[in-house]
Amino acid sequence: MLSKTEAQDAVIIALDMSREEALELCDKLAGKARWVKVGMTLFYRYGPTIVDEMRERGFKVFLDLKLHDIPFQIRGAALSASLCGADILSIHALGGADMISQGREGTEEAAGMRGGNRTKLIAISVLTSMDQDALSSIGVSLPVEEEVSNLASLAVGAGADGIVCSPQEAAAMRKLLGPEAIIVTPGIRPAGADVGDQKRISTPSAAIAAGASKLVIGRPITKADDPCEAFNAIICELMGLDV
Ligand code: C5P
Repeated sequence: MLSKTEAQDAVIIALDMSREEALELCDKLAGKARWVKVGMTLFYRYGPTIVDEMRERGFKVFLDLKLHDIPFQIRGAALSASLCGADILSIHALGGADMISQGREGTEEAAGMRGGNRTKLIAISVLTSMDQDALSSIGVSLPVEEEVSNLASLAVGAGADGIVCSPQEAAAMRKLLGPEAIIVTPGIRPAGADVGDQKRISTPSAAIAAGASKLVIGRPITKADDPCEAFNAIICELMGLDV
């Protein structure tokens, strides 16, 4: 059971939509929701402006750019993304320990320059769009679960603050990575909600009970007739209140 503040802080609303729709939605949810996720589609089109626009409305921003390049470049990318106001930034664990530790240094340098909290780095292990065959085709012969665990440990050992994983993996990842790791889970559907294209889903409260720290939730809120009501229902569920 979470307090209201904890529940509000646990929900990240995925803004998979146009800038205009995102701003309209954020105007409705401002003062209630605390976090939004800005992905590559919005960021590559609007750049840091879109992050500023969310921050002006009082939101914290998970900038889901999934960094992956040589360590030198990633240090610069993490520094730039931190300076543009990301509170959480994603990075591919597949880039290896040096790349992740340079990314971490980039976030530390940025925090030193601008003051305030350091941008948290969270790692993507194996993309959920890849199955065992897809892994084999790029020369990885380990079972997917083992590869996910290896990459998650490597990433956190190298300086990542946490990982993104499915709610089904959250309990195992919490055990593997310990209590401090940030565990972010998409694939969340409140009971009775339209499942859409998500396959391995969990309710908000079950994902938190399994060890998730933050839930990325898109369509159950963004496509609801009343997004504020849908958001509130999720907060009530996390607080253990009947809706
Ligand atoms: O609309 P929905 O709640 O399914 O949105 C979930 C968000 O999380 C989307 O932005 C989606 O791209 C992202 N995501 C996901 N599954 C993953 C990784 C990311 O659904 N494995």
